[in-house]
Amino acid sequence: METTLIILKPDAVQRGLMGRIVSRFEDKGLQIVGAKLMVIPVATAERHYADHKGKPFYDGLVKFMTSAPVLVLAVRGLGAIAMCRKMMGATFGSKAEAGTIRGDFGSSNSFNLIHGSDSPEAAAKELEIFFAKGEVLEYSRAVDRWVYDHSGGKPE
Ligand code: RTP
Ligand code: MG
Repeated sequence: METTLIILKPDAVQRGLMGRIVSRFEDKGLQIVGAKLMVIPVATAERHYADHKGKPFYDGLVKFMTSAPVLVLAVRGLGAIAMCRKMMGATFGSKAEAGTIRGDFGSSNSFNLIHGSDSPEAAAKELEIFFAKGEVLEYSRAVDRWVYDHSGGKPE
C-alpha cells in the first residue's frame, strides 16, 4: 500500500470543487487517511516546492498556494502515487486530457487545481511536511474486500 500527499489548491476550494474531486478518489477505491483544511504558511509552501526554487514560476506558485485555504489529503491505495498522478492529468489545465481532474475542471496553467506527490520519496517527504505523527490514520473499510482481490493472501 502506498500513501500519497494530495493538495486541493486554492482555486479548487474557492470554486467549490472539493467534493467532486474527493469523490473521484473515493470512486476509484482509494482511501482518504488524512485531511486538513488550512492556509499554508509561506515557509511551508517554500519547503514543499523547494525543488522549484529559482524557476521563473516559483514566486507566483508560492504566492498562489498561500493565498487562500487548501484541502490537504493523505490518500492510500495500491499504487496510489502513480494512480493519483494519472487521475490529475498533465500539469497545465489547457493540455490535460479530458477525463482527468485538471482536464475536466480547469483551463488555466498555473491555477491547476491539485497537487500530487510524484514519487515515493516525494510522498514521504511531503506527508511529513503537512501531517504530524498520528494524523495519518490506519483504518479498514468494510468495502476493502470488494475493492481489492484478497484471494491470493494479499490485496491485488
Ligand atoms: P504539482 O507539483 O503542483 O503537483 O504539479 P506538477 O507536478 O504537475 O508540476 P510541477 O512541474 O511540479 O510544477 C509545480 C507547479 O508549478 C506551476 N508551474 N508553472 N509556468 C510554468 O511553466 C509552470 N510550470 C509549473 C504549476 O502550478 C505546477 O502545478
Ligand atoms: Mg510537482
